[in-house]
Amino acid sequence: MKANLVLLPGDGIGPETTAAAVAVLRAIATRHAHDFVFTEHAIGGCAIDATGAALPAATRAACLQADAVLLGAVGGPKWSDPATPARPEQGLLQLRAALGVFANLRPVRVHPRAAALSPIKPERLAGVDLLFVRELTGGSYFGARTRDAASASDECRYTVVEIERVLRRAFDLARGRRGRVTSIDKANVLETSRLWRETAVRVAADYPDVVLEHQLVDSMAMLLLTRPADYDVLVTENLFGDILTDEAAVLAGSLGLLPSASLGDGRRGLYEPIHGSAPDIAGRGVANPIGSILSAALLLRHSLGLESEAREIEVAVDAVLDANELPRDLGGQAGTQDITAAVLAALAHSHAAQAAA
Ligand code: NAD
Ligand code: IPM
Ligand code: MN
Repeated sequence: MKANLVLLPGDGIGPETTAAAVAVLRAIATRHAHDFVFTEHAIGGCAIDATGAALPAATRAACLQADAVLLGAVGGPKWSDPATPARPEQGLLQLRAALGVFANLRPVRVHPRAAALSPIKPERLAGVDLLFVRELTGGSYFGARTRDAASASDECRYTVVEIERVLRRAFDLARGRRGRVTSIDKANVLETSRLWRETAVRVAADYPDVVLEHQLVDSMAMLLLTRPADYDVLVTENLFGDILTDEAAVLAGSLGLLPSASLGDGRRGLYEPIHGSAPDIAGRGVANPIGSILSAALLLRHSLGLESEAREIEVAVDAVLDANELPRDLGGQAGTQDITAAVLAALAHSHAAQAAA
């Protein structure tokens, strides 16, 4: 298969983790005779430095032409002054909007070895297999903003269309899993949440085979840590989803492990680990690349339809977590390149085993 893949390494550890994911994609391409054409573009702080814009027109145009986009991370202290006119994060929001990727899938699984390192009791982590579906192009991230000397506001607005399409995506995904959707809102206080909940009830009528439950976001923040194995698909609005998925990283053992896929109506998607640019460890070769590598697996699955290749990467990552020296964020000594080399070796091993069979 030929695929046109745009790389946006971005800032901080973004270039380090993206290079790892690209090495894995190249290994998959060689093994399966795919022709992946990679084109790199600037986004975020490095793009502001080079062009003045966080999402330069050339980057935006390339992404709109691509089969899929793989992003590292944006942002950092250099561009964090509240008075600064251009912000790296704004470039990412503009890209999500331009691509129309309203559904952000954030799967959370707990590898047994990482479970032993989690601050949560291992017995609570057994069987945890969550899929967050975070609404990505609406809510307070995209509402009107005001600011004067004495006050500031961020409008949180949702239309029925925006709510319904992401809920339908969550229900569709639940059908291929354990058939349960938990819709998370703050319907006891917020009007947008009341609209969200009413829409969820209406959409659920089209999915009699899927069980819908509602949870208020404050209580969900607690249940996620006390009863994580009870949940399957969790669907929620943009800001709640941002916060709850960083919390869910505690279940997995580290933020550095979690991937994401952002999808719209078509096949084109934006893939990125859920972590940020980690300025505290950038440039030291110690970032965990697994979130990026698993994002590459999601890219193969969702944008290119290469399910078995995606599985190969996931199995290789599991094998590395089973047997190899762990990365620093999981208490080990392995650096970014060590983990990347271990994943490549696990892939080569599985390819050799397949060839011998
Ligand atoms: P962060 O996710 O960058 O880092 C939080 C903590 O997790 C840090 O201690 C960091 O060292 C650690 N960490 C994160 N990823 C890791 C990895 N792969 N391996 C090992 N450790 C890892 O969050 P932050 O520090 O709050 O934000 C830093 C910058 O990143 C901010 O400018 C923020 O806006 C931006 N950000 C960008 C994205 C994105 O581009 N998608 C996501 C989140 C934050
Ligand atoms: C994420 C990040 C972004 C978000 C920021 C950098 C805009 O935290 O992808 O989780 O809040 O969506
Ligand atoms: Mn976030």
